[in-house]
Amino acid sequence: MLVNDNFSKVKETYLFSEIAKRVNTFKSNNPTADVIRLGIGDVTQPLPDVCIRAMHEAVDEMTHVDTFRGYGPEQGYDFLRQAIADCDYKARGCDIDADEIFVSDGAKSDTANFTDLFGKGNIIGISNPVYPVYLDSNILAGNGGELTSNGYEYIRFLDCVAKNDFKPQIPKEKLDIVYLCSPNNPTGTALTYDELKAWVDYALENKCLILFDAAYESFIREDGIPHSIYEIPNARKVAVEFRSFSKTAGFTGIRCAYTVVPKSIEVTVSEKPLSLHGMWLRRQTTKFNGASYIVQRAAAALYSEAGRLQIKKTIDLYLENAKIIREAFKSKGFKVWGGVNSPYVWLKAPNGLSSWEFFDYLLNNCHIVGTPGSGFGTMGEGYFRLTGFGSPAKTKEAAARISGINI
Ligand code: MLT
Repeated sequence: MLVNDNFSKVKETYLFSEIAKRVNTFKSNNPTADVIRLGIGDVTQPLPDVCIRAMHEAVDEMTHVDTFRGYGPEQGYDFLRQAIADCDYKARGCDIDADEIFVSDGAKSDTANFTDLFGKGNIIGISNPVYPVYLDSNILAGNGGELTSNGYEYIRFLDCVAKNDFKPQIPKEKLDIVYLCSPNNPTGTALTYDELKAWVDYALENKCLILFDAAYESFIREDGIPHSIYEIPNARKVAVEFRSFSKTAGFTGIRCAYTVVPKSIEVTVSEKPLSLHGMWLRRQTTKFNGASYIVQRAAAALYSEAGRLQIKKTIDLYLENAKIIREAFKSKGFKVWGGVNSPYVWLKAPNGLSSWEFFDYLLNNCHIVGTPGSGFGTMGEGYFRLTGFGSPAKTKEAAARISGINI
């Protein structure tokens, strides 16, 4: 059998698997250490009550022949798509219809699967540092082209550095596709309305497709930060948006997300006009059988008044954790970003330590797990990410340990 040799062009292990491996080794060498995990952005608080109730009811429906459900629509049930369109979009003045929303089992898989729609030879803009899935999925799909001395033939890294507040700057050259994530994973910074508008205007002018990852939208608390790219005029001609219930409502285990592909994004295939919406529909109906009915009922319950209140309470708790982490490092003189409209706190490792050196320092001396910035790209070297997703008690304990850092 011939295999996909693009696997030789990506790192051998996925970032979070590598971290888990190192932590497991530490744990087996130090079995009594109380390790606090603030590395992978996994939630700790239970699902909102409204979800639990909705899932119980949905399970009961499965017990009766009249209400039993088998395969659902690949694009999601209408009750959920309509709730999303009304509450996440129309209520914010965004012109998005229910049939432009595709419910799925995760934004990670959706962003990666979207590469099925790309032809070869596109120039692709990817922030550096970045959530590794955008880059790795393109490399595995063969969209990176040949390896070059400074990266990949078709990938243009958009360096995000401290002097630009870690925000991607608009390039001089034309990109065919660009990935944007705001509020950002890993740096925790968020694009303002004007900054995002500049990207949309660039995309309109350059016929560039924006893949906008808004998985952390529910953490936005400040004014002037768009919750959706469709708040920007004409974005529906150039942008696809990814959202997830994972961090919003604790669905990392039960899995539910959605992708918005507006019907107005036009592409040409073999010189024939085609809509990207139609292509994604074709892709999903061929390769995906939909998220489970029970989970979609849980997601729909989040749009009730009680659901919204419960989500807000949990996100406020994670934001408070992020603040505690941020302040703990700040008071030790660290340079810190994020943690305001985001669960992620991004900091500069002290004394010129590399990201992995600081990872080892924190693990060995404070028994705290974070994520080395270099795992998100070369521009992340010397930086480090922590999350506000721990429990309040563990986060306070982590802050106390951080206050004892002497480096
Ligand atoms: C992260 O820690 O960056 C996230 O948990 C990854 C993800 O959402 O897949």
